[in-house]
Amino acid sequence: NQRTKIKALLQTTPIDAKVTVMGWVRTFRNNQFIALNDGSTNLNLQIVVPLGMLGEDILKRITTGASLKIAGTIAKSVGKGQTIELLAENVEILGDCDAEKYPLQPKKHSLEFLREIAHLRFRTNTFGTVFRIRHALAFAIHQFFNERGFIYLHTPIITASDAEGAGEMFRVTTLPFDGTPRNEDGSVNFKEDFFGKSTNLTVSGQLEGELGAMAFSEIYTFGPTFRAENSNTTRHLAEFWMIEPEMAFCDLEDNMNLAEEFIQYIIQYVMKNNADDLAFLDQRLAEEEKQKPANERSEMGLIEKLNFVVNNRFERITYTEAIQILLDSPAYKKKKFKYEVSWGIDMQSEHERYLVEKHFKKPVIVTNYPADIKAFYMRLNDGCEPGKQTVAAMDILAPGIGEIVGGSQREERLEKLLQRMENMHIPVEEMNWYLDTRRFGTVPHAGFGLGFERMVQFVTGMTNIRDVIPFARTPKNCNF
Ligand code: 4AD
Ligand code: MG
Repeated sequence: NQRTKIKALLQTTPIDAKVTVMGWVRTFRNNQFIALNDGSTNLNLQIVVPLGMLGEDILKRITTGASLKIAGTIAKSVGKGQTIELLAENVEILGDCDAEKYPLQPKKHSLEFLREIAHLRFRTNTFGTVFRIRHALAFAIHQFFNERGFIYLHTPIITASDAEGAGEMFRVTTLPFDGTPRNEDGSVNFKEDFFGKSTNLTVSGQLEGELGAMAFSEIYTFGPTFRAENSNTTRHLAEFWMIEPEMAFCDLEDNMNLAEEFIQYIIQYVMKNNADDLAFLDQRLAEEEKQKPANERSEMGLIEKLNFVVNNRFERITYTEAIQILLDSPAYKKKKFKYEVSWGIDMQSEHERYLVEKHFKKPVIVTNYPADIKAFYMRLNDGCEPGKQTVAAMDILAPGIGEIVGGSQREERLEKLLQRMENMHIPVEEMNWYLDTRRFGTVPHAGFGLGFERMVQFVTGMTNIRDVIPFARTPKNCNF
């Protein structure tokens, strides 16, 4: 019962070989030509069913979505758009698919519609392609760090700390396990805690990552993170995946260099290993662009953009320079920004997008943000102007996305860190485990977090973050 994957067949084109394939029917034309897909590639294998080979009863069961097992011989194809086809000798229906009820028809469906049937959308070309690329990126990420001797550290999902202080968190509660989670008055009887302790789902693995870096020198995390931000945007999820490397003996400059090299490496990996998937998305995006008015079309195609990003250094500017560019911009002078611009603001996405899309037209690393808008662990810069205290932070902004990476050099000086935590009302007593890194053999160190879905968006050109994670968790989106 040997099965050959369609991708392998299309790559090796073994003319005259006897093979068995299994997959799902995309289309069936003229009672003769089946386009079969098994998810190994967005390309279908054309199956030619000799006329008269199958009875009416079988033919009518070969419908879009049905699963088949087909044995036959590979032949050179005379048809257009394919190099080989399979001349069927035996066709077996594995699973029927009622064409009347099946929501996926052999036509183009809108992304919005497919989001409603997220349980079936992997079976479309677009989503098949997006999730093969997501997989390739994840693999490339592990390969990148492994090649450089970083240890993959698994940090907890349930935690008692708030690494970012950036917003609301999901609280962990306990439901009784006896199957009657009800109080006498009928209300749900859940305990507001994790066995007597107040905990939440992690917003970031960084603080635990720092513990690892203080022993292994270099670690990275790659796991789910949770933020209860009630924001309905095309870039925010309540549950998203983050990659967080943390490096001892490393400053802000090293941090930026690593982040840039990292992003370029994983894009290159996909360009090399998923060329067919990228070509499909490139085409898809080009068609989408054609629908837009000329002045809103992007200047580069998807592959062209990725090529540009891997071959050009990212721009590097300070926060202070970024604010000045915004103040000097025609957009500011024509009052095109909705939010105010002045030193000290937390830049809004309209500002970030102006910098990358209009001004520099490439990824930009912004450094040295005001301390007041950044997390407690970031290293205070020495010698700042009074009232303009900055920290050694860096954000990477990407065209079409905005912030894709957030990182910093960490405050390794115990006294300064304690002072900062006190100013920010962070309970020092509960953070002794973290502070011990500064008490026992502290070293300069730095790290960053890459939002995985934003990276997948960047590489695939998908505009909505809900379309690059298999099961999106957003405020109105948790059906299964
Ligand atoms: O900038 P953030 O909040 O940084 C941290 O969490 C640090 N602890 C990282 C570190 O230094 N180790 O988040 C990092 C990245 C953002 O740049 C963004 O790409 C992504 O995570 N991100 C989100 N992605 C999807 N949905 C959300 N709600 C996100 N919030 C942040
Ligand atoms: Mg950030």
